[in-house]
Amino acid sequence: MEYSNIIVETRGRVGLITLNRPKAMNALNDQLIDEVGYALDGFEKDENIGAIVITGSEKAFAAGADIGAMANYSHMDAYKGDYITRNWERLRTCRKPIIAAVAGFALGGGCELAMMCDMIFAADTAKFGQPEIKLGVLPGAGGTQRLPRAIGKAKAMDMCLTARMMDATEAERAGLVARIIPADRLVDEAIEAATVIAGFSLPVIMMIKESVNRAYESSLSEGLLFERRTFHSAFGLEDQKEGMAAFVEKRKPVFKHR
Ligand code: CAA
Repeated sequence: MEYSNIIVETRGRVGLITLNRPKAMNALNDQLIDEVGYALDGFEKDENIGAIVITGSEKAFAAGADIGAMANYSHMDAYKGDYITRNWERLRTCRKPIIAAVAGFALGGGCELAMMCDMIFAADTAKFGQPEIKLGVLPGAGGTQRLPRAIGKAKAMDMCLTARMMDATEAERAGLVARIIPADRLVDEAIEAATVIAGFSLPVIMMIKESVNRAYESSLSEGLLFERRTFHSAFGLEDQKEGMAAFVEKRKPVFKHR
């Protein structure tokens, strides 16, 4: 695929996707999301990739869904075309971990895209918001669902109903963001963290991602059962034998299934 809205690169064992519509603050149109999905397919199939970073520009991770593109949609256009959900779901189904490295604005669909990733690293310049109410709509890519799970009902209501933005400090305090990083170090630190992850056993990375995500989809007892069964299955992995033998022998493990 020819990419015209994103840049796709690799850094060692890390796949890097840079959203690249600078004139529109990385507004997310259908084509851009299709391209992200295609890039994720490639990274998912590539045995040399163990983790993925998605970033934007210094000014904007993404300022939301493309307002110009959807302004004249009818209900039928949105419903029949399964607008937003259709191609965005690919982010949710990716089995390799994704870090969103957010600088500048992450608004509306931009904030939602970041929340679909497994963790968010924020530059000190980051601003998160769900301003859809100002456009006469509501968040449509998970804002009303993932935000309360991440930061609780009170702050999620505040953001969705007043459209106010949250800066990086507040977002980290509230639990939306894993780390705050000086803007000029953001992508490097995200790649460093992704490189650490990608050095571990890939099946174990996937098991952890599945298990943590299960916490959002099930009761505590179901989640604990899922975790325990998955933990038991880890003893079938060569990498478990290697990891534990390496500890006992006081050496670095060499994981086979990366
Ligand atoms: N869609 C389309 N174009 C957008 C855009 C968007 N979401 N956000 C910014 N742009 C465009 C602007 O139209 C402008 O283009 P022109 O130069 O051609 O006029 C360019 O990007 C630069 O934007 P501004 O001049 O507005 O820059 P600013 O620095 O003054 O403001 C901003 C930046 C605060 C991000 C402002 O652009 C803004 O409020 N954008 C819209 C944010 C928004 O409402 N997002 C939610 C979209 S709906 C959604 O996402 C639904 C969902 O749940 C999936």
